[in-house]
Amino acid sequence: MAAERPRVLSGIQPTAGSFHLGNYLGAVRQWVALQETHDTFYSIVDLHAITVPQDPRALRESSRLAAAQLLGAGLDPARCTLFVQSQVPEHAQLAWVLNCVTGFGEASRMTQFKDKAAKQGAEGTTVGLFTYPVLQAADILLYQADLVPVGEDQRQHIELTRDLAERFNGRFGRAFTVPGPYILKEGAKIYDLQDPSIKMSKSASSPKGIVWLMDDPKTSGKKFRGAVTDTDTVIRYDPETKPGVSNLLTIYSALTGIGVGELEEKFTGRLYGSLKTELGDVFADWVAPFRARVQEYLDDPAELDRLLARGAEKARAIAAGTLADVYEKVGFLPAGAH
Ligand code: TYM
Repeated sequence: MAAERPRVLSGIQPTAGSFHLGNYLGAVRQWVALQETHDTFYSIVDLHAITVPQDPRALRESSRLAAAQLLGAGLDPARCTLFVQSQVPEHAQLAWVLNCVTGFGEASRMTQFKDKAAKQGAEGTTVGLFTYPVLQAADILLYQADLVPVGEDQRQHIELTRDLAERFNGRFGRAFTVPGPYILKEGAKIYDLQDPSIKMSKSASSPKGIVWLMDDPKTSGKKFRGAVTDTDTVIRYDPETKPGVSNLLTIYSALTGIGVGELEEKFTGRLYGSLKTELGDVFADWVAPFRARVQEYLDDPAELDRLLARGAEKARAIAAGTLADVYEKVGFLPAGAH
C-alpha cells in the first residue's frame, strides 16, 4: 500500500471580501502547491469572522467570494478538501472542550488578541475574540494535521495548538497529532506599502498600503508606484535599512520566481520608480487571469455552494471521528446508547 500522505490543514477568514497580497503570498500560494504532495484540508473560517461584527448578508457573500478566490488561485476540489467552517459543527464542539483545557493566562498572552483588544477597548472586544486561537486549535486538531501552512503572524497560534494537543494527550490519552507550522521564509511576511515596518493587513491605517487581489489592477499599480521606500537610490535587498525596497523585491520575486539576487542585478543603476512601475505590471499580468477565473466561479453561485457542501461532507467524515474519540476520552456519556 502506498504510504499515506502527510495531512495539511489551514484556514482563512472570509472578511474584507477580497484577499490581499499578503494572504496570497504568505499562505494561499503554499496551499496550492501542497495539494500535489499532501492530503490537504482548507477552511473558510466564518466562525472566526464573527469575533468582530459582521453584516450577515455581506458575510455570506464574502464566504462565496473567498471560495471563488481560493479556486481561482488554483485549489482543485478534486485534490483538496475545501469547506466552510460553520458547515462542520465539530469545530465549535471541539473548541468548547479545548477552551476547558486552556489557561486564562495562556490565552491572555496571545499577541494578536492583545493588539486587536487594545484597538477595540474592553467593551468592544468579544469573548469570542479572546478564545479565537482555541477555535483555531480545534480546526487543526480535528483533522490530525501534521502541517499548518500560514504566514509568520500565525506562529504563536500554532505554538498554542501544539501545547493544547500535548496537554490533552497527556491528560486523557492520545487523541491528537501534534502539528507543526509550515512557514516559508520568502513571503511569510509581506509588509504594508505605506509603512514597511508593519505587515500588510486589512486593519492597516492607510488603504494605500494594501494591495487587494480583487481590485482593478490600475488601482494596485498606483499603490505600487506610491510605495514608501527611502532616500537612498540603490535597489538592494536589505530588510534592516531598506525595508520598503526589500518588500517590493520580495513581492516581485514571489510573483515571478526570479531570485532576489537576480533582481538586484537586473535593476542595477536603475531608479526606484522603474522597480515600482515594473512590479505594478508584473502584478497586473498575474492578477488579470486570476480575476477572470474568480469571476467564472462567482457567476455560478449554486455550483459553488454544491462544491462547498461536498467539501463539508468530506471534512465531517474526518472531524466526526476525532470528536467522538475526544468526547469518549473526557467522559461524556455516549449519545443514543441503548
Ligand atoms: P487570516 O485570515 O488573517 O490570514 C490568512 C493567511 O494569510 C496570512 N497572512 C500573511 N502572510 C504574509 N504576509 C502578510 N502580510 C499576511 N497577512 C496575512 C496569515 O498568516 C494566514 O496564514 N487565524 C487565521 C485563520 C485560521 C487558521 C486556522 C489558520 C483559522 N483557523 C487554522 C491556520 C489553521 C487568520 O486569521 O488568518
